[in-house]
Amino acid sequence: MKNRYLEQIEQKIADALSNAHLPPVLGTPIAYALQSGGKRLRPLITMLAADACGSTEDATPAAAAIEILHNFTLVHDDIMDRSPLRRGKPTVFTQWDEATAILAGDTMMGIAYAMLSSYYSPPICQRLVAAFSTAFVEICIGQAEDLAFRSTPTVSMDDYLGMISRKTARLFATAAVAGGIVAMADQATQQALDTIGTAIGIAFQVQDDMLDLFGTPEFGKQRGQDLREGKKTYPILCAVASTRDNDDRVVLERYLAGTGINSDEDIEHIAAICRRAGVLQQAQATINHYIEQAQAILTAALPPTPARAELITIADTTRTRQL
Ligand code: IPE
Ligand code: IPE
Ligand code: MG
Ligand code: MG
Ligand code: MG
Repeated sequence: MKNRYLEQIEQKIADALSNAHLPPVLGTPIAYALQSGGKRLRPLITMLAADACGSTEDATPAAAAIEILHNFTLVHDDIMDRSPLRRGKPTVFTQWDEATAILAGDTMMGIAYAMLSSYYSPPICQRLVAAFSTAFVEICIGQAEDLAFRSTPTVSMDDYLGMISRKTARLFATAAVAGGIVAMADQATQQALDTIGTAIGIAFQVQDDMLDLFGTPEFGKQRGQDLREGKKTYPILCAVASTRDNDDRVVLERYLAGTGINSDEDIEHIAAICRRAGVLQQAQATINHYIEQAQAILTAALPPTPARAELITIADTTRTRQL
């Protein structure tokens, strides 16, 4: 994705790293996590939300802090999910070890908070810290649900949507709201930004679950890793609700009651069942629904500016993302 703000975001992340004066045992894995080809979607949303709200204050530190917080959650998420690959490279805990990945993540969180307190003054600083802290707790709750659902055979689509609204959409919402906070936007606008970020985030995670099962190697993650871990993902829940084939239902129910499948053959079998059940079309309809909701609120809540148009475009690209 090309955007005029990307360079500023990169520079601020690089500054944060060098200002932390870390020893190489931490600095190297953190730089690896932060500078290995992330799309920078969340900080772009922060920059554009601030711009669309007419900010006179620099939103780059808040945007960089959001991206650092995001990467921290990924470093720990990969340990929890036993994921070998991210962005086409070994994950931090695979490249180093779990202890290094845990510490690298902890340090990144410290760096993210330091960005907020060193660049902003009251009241913006308190509001950003409050938004970050609430988001952080909610992401952890979502991640805990994601793990607990592995051993819950009866997860409903509503349970799933609640879980992803916490583990993933909360950070998108916070990215948007952080832009509004920096711009000192009114409460109604901040509420609208929250709703927009949440809708984009839900669509984003549905697509992520689809790419885990149907993506190409360019996606950069190990294909089928969610199923190996017994995750209750969108394609599985959608297929079990839609299939009309009894044999397929038996396979899906066995998966739902278990704790994961191992062979590539089993993963292909589940993928074929999902295709037969019409999951690809339903996922696209779900994603379209949330993206259209986000775009309608964007249009209603923000004045017509180039930044608003770019936000609408970014929302659109999440519909079809393959990476
Ligand atoms: C990955 O997010 C984590 C999810 C919420 C699915 P991204 O796909 O935005 O990760 P990067 O930073 O661009 O690699
Ligand atoms: C990620 O969900 C949500 C986080 C809070 C990190 P996933 O576990 O699906 O993300 P990926 O696929 O590993 O990027
Ligand atoms: Mg996960
Ligand atoms: Mg994961
Ligand atoms: Mg995933």
